Amino acid sequence: MIRSVVRGTGAALPRRIMKNADFEGMVETSDEWIAQRTGIRQRHIAADDETTASLGEAAARAALDNAGLTPADIDLIVLATSTPNNTFPATAVDIQNRLGMHHGFAFDMQAVCSGFVYAVTTADLYIRGGLAKRVLVIGSETFSRILDWSDRSTCVLFGDGAGAMVLEAGEGAGGIEDHGVLAASLRSDGAHKDKLFVDGGASTTGTVGHLRMEGREVFKHAVGMITDVIEATFSAAGITAEDLDWFVPHQANKRIIDASARKLGIAEQKVVVTVDLHGNTSAASVPLALSVAVADGRIKKGDLVLIEAMGGGFTWGAVLLRW
Ligand code: UT7
Repeated sequence: MIRSVVRGTGAALPRRIMKNADFEGMVETSDEWIAQRTGIRQRHIAADDETTASLGEAAARAALDNAGLTPADIDLIVLATSTPNNTFPATAVDIQNRLGMHHGFAFDMQAVCSGFVYAVTTADLYIRGGLAKRVLVIGSETFSRILDWSDRSTCVLFGDGAGAMVLEAGEGAGGIEDHGVLAASLRSDGAHKDKLFVDGGASTTGTVGHLRMEGREVFKHAVGMITDVIEATFSAAGITAEDLDWFVPHQANKRIIDASARKLGIAEQKVVVTVDLHGNTSAASVPLALSVAVADGRIKKGDLVLIEAMGGGFTWGAVLLRW
């Protein structure tokens, strides 16, 4: 059978780093509160010349280099973002053009923090359906542009960045030993749409709007939802937490990551954590964490890797891959 195999990963971060202490003069907060409640120590913030498209392009080029490929080898770009450069066209076609790619096709996916998990699942279906052979899957965000910088309950949590992955059609026997995407589980429930949203939009206010979140409410649902889709993914693949080599969760809050891993019985040393360095970068958080763990030699060929995310909508999901 056809499998969607990981050929390369890459990342890009804005030049400017903002430390927790840098918020202390802006809103009533402290390095201690942010670090203790979230695990975040710093985040990258985009300058005016750094956008979702430019960061996405840089991450895509890094992933192509890592794969030993060029844009000519790609036939589909799927960009997960909630902070597009423009309302339309899709930022994916902007990135396509920046890469000098005038063949194939490109589109954006909007599932907020779960965007990359949705995009990998979508790319896998295009590959297995025979519509694409090599797909650039990108998560790129500039959440700093939609933050209310006077709201301490949200502005300290998010950061900007991009991560990318090249998926390529390969052959598999159909079992758990295959390389590539092995199982996935996606969910959404719009009953929760007002717990994490942006209070503007093209069809309503005609403005971009600002991010609003009932943090405690999101927190309350997060661990249960995350562990549900992961258990569904484990059972679809016929594995248990013990079989995993690496757990690469969405990086929103270290307490959510720890509680999810504990509930699932995933050992602490198998969990990749980058929330301290990047904050919550929404759809970019999982591919950023993946590229850190690939670059430092933790994730190696043959490893069984689980990615997971949960966010606005709510949307949530998990994908199991063998590297
Ligand atoms: O990626 C999408 C998914 N998003 C998430 O996963 C976020 C989920 N939620 C969270 O991570 C946490 O709920 C937060 C980090 C947002 C908040 O942590 P918490 O432990 O749930 O705190 P809380 O909302 O219960 O607030 C505790 C107190 C409040 O004061 P009172 O009402 O107890 O007097 C807040 O006003 O902390 C206050 N507070 C702050 N204090 C200092 C809220 N933000 C800050 C701040 N600095 N930045």
